[in-house]
Amino acid sequence: MSNKSAKLTIGDKEIELPIYTPTAGPDVLDITKLYAQGDVFTYDPGFTSTAACDSTITFIDGDKGELLHRGYPIDQLAEKSHFLEVCYLLLYGELPSATELEDFETRVTNHTMVHEQMHNFFRGFRRDAHPMATLVGVVGAMSAFYHDSTDINDEWQREVAAIRLIAKLPTIAAMAFKYSIGQPFVYPRNDLDYASNFLHMCFSVPAENYEVNPILARAMDRIFTLHADHEQNASTSTVRLASSSGANPFACIAAGIACLWGPAHGGANQACLEMLKEIGTVDRIPEFIARAKDKNDSYRLMGFGHRVYKNFDPRATVMKQSADEVLELLGVEDNPLLQVAMELEKQALADPYFAEKKLFPNVDFYSGIILEAMGFPTSMFTPIFALARTVGWISQWKEQISDPKLKIGRPRQLYKGETARDYVDIEKR
Ligand code: CMC
Repeated sequence: MSNKSAKLTIGDKEIELPIYTPTAGPDVLDITKLYAQGDVFTYDPGFTSTAACDSTITFIDGDKGELLHRGYPIDQLAEKSHFLEVCYLLLYGELPSATELEDFETRVTNHTMVHEQMHNFFRGFRRDAHPMATLVGVVGAMSAFYHDSTDINDEWQREVAAIRLIAKLPTIAAMAFKYSIGQPFVYPRNDLDYASNFLHMCFSVPAENYEVNPILARAMDRIFTLHADHEQNASTSTVRLASSSGANPFACIAAGIACLWGPAHGGANQACLEMLKEIGTVDRIPEFIARAKDKNDSYRLMGFGHRVYKNFDPRATVMKQSADEVLELLGVEDNPLLQVAMELEKQALADPYFAEKKLFPNVDFYSGIILEAMGFPTSMFTPIFALARTVGWISQWKEQISDPKLKIGRPRQLYKGETARDYVDIEKR
């Protein structure tokens, strides 16, 4: 399978490890037999050097700032394609023909409503529940409603689960939003495109007419497209790990949503806007930059830096253009928060600390600004990321299930605890 190999010497043992050459990216050293042959584990907290699976879906070159879905660059997809076409590409591997796309869009559109009884689930949450908390719960609960698509060994059921998740996530996210602000749920409208329908479900109310602005719908669609997949990030790896045990698709996606919520991952867009609010005025920016640079302060500028991209985030470049368009349309140049954002971007980019450490605004910096300008509360930023990433999770999930090499995920550890010792009776402690 592999022509190249590496030799590892441990004491007097020499172990040969195969090296695989991918279609793109660095070579990969196969250590699967290392424990059996060398009686050692590898140590890699945070998986910074570990490939955990084979994949053909997404490729990232962090140094070049390149992101490819099935080989297509993200900037071309953001410019020329749209979210549902990118969903098709991620799920099935190729761009669709016109008929394939129409058929896919019809299938997704026909699944946008949720079971009416699911409305009762929402009512069990506190009225001020964070929409991410609601989302984790309700998506997990889908397995209680859609029994006919939980058998992971049935290809047809896997397909139906994938379509249901992509179709229903916007409805569930919009319902979580409406519930959190005390407004009635708005049913989906199947005559609208995916992004317009989401805006309709979030911003229309029964008492008034709501016209979706096409510029905002386009910006929304771009946010979805730019967040659709990102290779083996924390939430995707969580979905893969959950799925490796054979868990049903709704449970796996709920696990991904839970992971995404953290501020170092999908929660960064909310954390970023909260940071801008805390900064408050342009004159306080230097104080916050100084804190981010201070070795003795754990404070970080939210929306800056990335584990993989070390030159620029290609998604951020497109997102910045969208931010400019939306800000111009909505005439929010006077919004103090957005002024702080623009000035912070300028000052951080000009600061040698950020240049040396290759820290620059990431996609969440700009998506947060757009969503704020559109009128979304910060608590909705991460649910929007989750609904967009659902297609990535489900594509990676499908890929993993079809992989004959699938094994339950079971990392090892470097144990530093006590060795075996005798139990001490309570009166003697
Ligand atoms: N502000 C100030 N300093 C920073 C920042 C920041 N945002 N990010 C990294 N650093 C410093 C860090 O202190 C470290 O310095 P030193 O070498 O002196 O110890 C150096 O840069 C490298 O940081 P790291 O933590 O080793 O880098 P990482 O690859 O583990 O972390 C990150 C990546 C995204 C978690 C981190 O940059 C961060 O916490 N950023 C803020 C949160 C954020 O915006 N997250 C969204 C990521 S994009 C969306 C997504 O993929 O979910």
